[in-house]
Amino acid sequence: MITLGIESSCDETGVAIVKDGQLLSNVVSSQADIHAKYGGVMPEVASRLHAENIIFVLKEALEKADVKLGDVDAFAVTRGPGLIGALHVGMQAAKTLAMLFDKPLIPVHHLAGHIYANEFVEEMKFPLLAIVVSGGNSELVLMREDLDFEVLGETRDDAIGECFDKVARVLGFPYPGGAMIDEHAKKGKHTYNLPTPLKGVDTLDFSFSGLKTNVINLVHNLEQKGETVNVDDMCRSVEETAVEQVINKALIAINRYEVKNVVVCGGVSANSYLREKLSEELSKRHINLSFPPMWCCTDNAAMIAKLGEKLYLKGIRAPLTISPDPNWRIEDYKTF
Ligand code: KG4
Repeated sequence: MITLGIESSCDETGVAIVKDGQLLSNVVSSQADIHAKYGGVMPEVASRLHAENIIFVLKEALEKADVKLGDVDAFAVTRGPGLIGALHVGMQAAKTLAMLFDKPLIPVHHLAGHIYANEFVEEMKFPLLAIVVSGGNSELVLMREDLDFEVLGETRDDAIGECFDKVARVLGFPYPGGAMIDEHAKKGKHTYNLPTPLKGVDTLDFSFSGLKTNVINLVHNLEQKGETVNVDDMCRSVEETAVEQVINKALIAINRYEVKNVVVCGGVSANSYLREKLSEELSKRHINLSFPPMWCCTDNAAMIAKLGEKLYLKGIRAPLTISPDPNWRIEDYKTF
């Protein structure tokens, strides 16, 4: 069974090929350098670059896997969530291939893809809590069994990665600045007193925009007074404040739902403080913790092909009239 996956939800154009669960190729073309000029992803530019790149990425993925389009049994594609124009490019490519080769089209939920990327390293055990932390999403998802998703909490405003990227921008780091915040934080101390919204409120939702705005205002005020910001300390303060919000909510969810397995995914799962602190807290509680390898934590099509194959085997198929859905909920992954 050969599945070709396509990903284009944000600023990475990806095509990957999976054969009976094994990854044959995974090609990702990142647009990050181009968006860096604007300090963030420009949706219109992202769509245009996907349209320009997709053919080259597709060709390279086929060559690396030594597979011909006619050998592919199913075409899987990210249907959402993501940027609507960007999603359209991947969806049109997948629909065209499915129509030309008369093979099934499998729509894949982007965040479900991130969670199932973990299956490249180990079999997932349930009940499981997925902590999805990326540039576009921050969610706690409970999975009582395979392909059963319940969103326990999500951000009410910005994603954690977006908060890091905007703070990085005001500190003068290039986009996306999350990794640089992480590097500087290692040398700093938590000296700045920053707010944790929704602390003490009975919700598993997150909020990061107050933290972001607070840091931006603090940096501007210090600059206006001619004082210098201690960048390392600021990075450490922001990182600890944001990450502890995620960990505290996750621990409440783990206790409440008696979860024994935790998977962390999305680009922010690369964060060293998150890794260290979560490992420490969960090992105390004898809970299994898994971080998918870095190559599949950031956006890629390998996870789309992998989950696409599973969905195909469960009988999921979409009509060629399907459209992308930028706000597709993970619970609705079978509804289109
Ligand atoms: O999942 P991802 O590749 O795509 C989006 O959803 O956009 O995540 C990218 C995000 C960016 O916000 C980036 O700054 C953040 O992941 N990131 C990090 C680290 N590495 C990447 N944030 C904190 N610490 C890191 N080491």
